[in-house]
Amino acid sequence: MMPPRSRQPAQLKFSPHRVLGRAAAMRAVLFWAVALLPALTGLVAAQATLRFDDSGALRIVQLADVHVGEGAADAHTVQLVRRVLAAERPGLAVLSGDMVSGFAFPAGDVAGRLGRLFDRGSSTHLTASWYERQWRRLVAPLHAAGVPYAAILGNHDGEADLGRRGVTELASAVGGSLSLTLPGPEGLPGGGNYWIDVLEPQGEAVAARIWMVDSGNRGCGQLAWGWGCVPVDTVEWVRQQAALLPRVPSLAFVHIPLPQHMLAWERGPVNGTKGEMVGCPGMDTGFFELAREVGITAVYSGHDHNNDFAGTVHGVRLAYGRKSGFGSYGPAGRLQHGARVIELRQGEDPAGSPTWIRQEDGSQQFQAAGPEDRPFRQHTCNLDASGCDNSLGPRACLALRSARNAATLLAVLAGLAVAATTTSLAAFVLARRVQQHLRRQRGWQQVKSSEKPLGPAAV
Ligand SMILES: *[C@@H]1O[C@H](CO)[C@@H](O)[C@H](O)[C@H]1NC(C)=O
Repeated sequence: MMPPRSRQPAQLKFSPHRVLGRAAAMRAVLFWAVALLPALTGLVAAQATLRFDDSGALRIVQLADVHVGEGAADAHTVQLVRRVLAAERPGLAVLSGDMVSGFAFPAGDVAGRLGRLFDRGSSTHLTASWYERQWRRLVAPLHAAGVPYAAILGNHDGEADLGRRGVTELASAVGGSLSLTLPGPEGLPGGGNYWIDVLEPQGEAVAARIWMVDSGNRGCGQLAWGWGCVPVDTVEWVRQQAALLPRVPSLAFVHIPLPQHMLAWERGPVNGTKGEMVGCPGMDTGFFELAREVGITAVYSGHDHNNDFAGTVHGVRLAYGRKSGFGSYGPAGRLQHGARVIELRQGEDPAGSPTWIRQEDGSQQFQAAGPEDRPFRQHTCNLDASGCDNSLGPRACLALRSARNAATLLAVLAGLAVAATTTSLAAFVLARRVQQHLRRQRGWQQVKSSEKPLGPAAV
């Protein structure tokens, strides 16, 4: 017989173990141990899941370099996102980094800048931070359309009042079940390395996997210059996780292109446009090799706003998105703002997924093969983030940079010299004025004293 329900709380309050019984208490301890163990060991990270639709497809919209936060351009960007979502009705939107123009963060917000130093995440902020306000503006159309979305960090996302960790925590916290972004895992540099399992239309079997990988900001490993990369530790983490998971067709998103994106343009068939040098990192940390090893056969990036090409190297598709945002530069030439759409199909190799660009005027652009004659040839990644033309070679870029630094130093010294000269000149002139003034005053007093007898009598 069960005791009356109303008596349970009082009993629980005084002696939970007696009420639960030893077996139940053990079960509770076991339950929590099993639940917490993976999180504690870090072996199996938390993950998000999606599902192929009944036709076995998952339509992904890649919103690349959205760059909100620059004011007037934002309304156009939000409008474009709304349009693309309405036209494509995707099952997933991927925000592939540089969601917010961190460089547009108001310079006067000292408190925000200090807050970033500690990178404590959004939850500790009493009022919505600047970054958070931009973020909410950007995800509003995704929420309105009910589209699940997942984000990775770009090089500009950690430049405002949230650090890289703070941004991923914010992205994970806002949006409820629609946000698939995950911060962490602990111990890896940056934030937001995770995967999304895509389940079969019915049932629980995993049919495909999407890796979301943080490619950093500037510099790579020991290399202080050039663009960010997927760190060696992250490559190793993906390798370990993939070994524990069922092997299924997989693709990946990174913000900064791989060195193999550059190679894709140099050789073999390619579709789309190259309007600037590929800003890949100065070191190959092995992500491409890992991709081939674990069955990731498509890697999509953002970062270079004037590039939108897709090519193939050793059976792996290496593609850019299309620049989506109206902030920052690009896309150049005749390219419209837009978004790459990827139709992932169950049981098919992601290297061959149908893909097209949904453009700002509403049109759907299939990228034709070519061009035959390829502009912007390059053989090393565009290492100099300050814009050195890499066709000159990295050594020339370094020399140029040294020359520029020397010129800057000379300019500063010259400025100081001019300032010093001006100051001493001004001091000299001022001293003379004071001297003249004093002399004149003394003269006047002398005159006054010599005129004294005449003074009052003359009135
Ligand atoms: C490249 O162009 C060819 C021919 O026009 C087309 O069949 C193929 O699907 C295109 N590939 C991509 C990735 O756009």
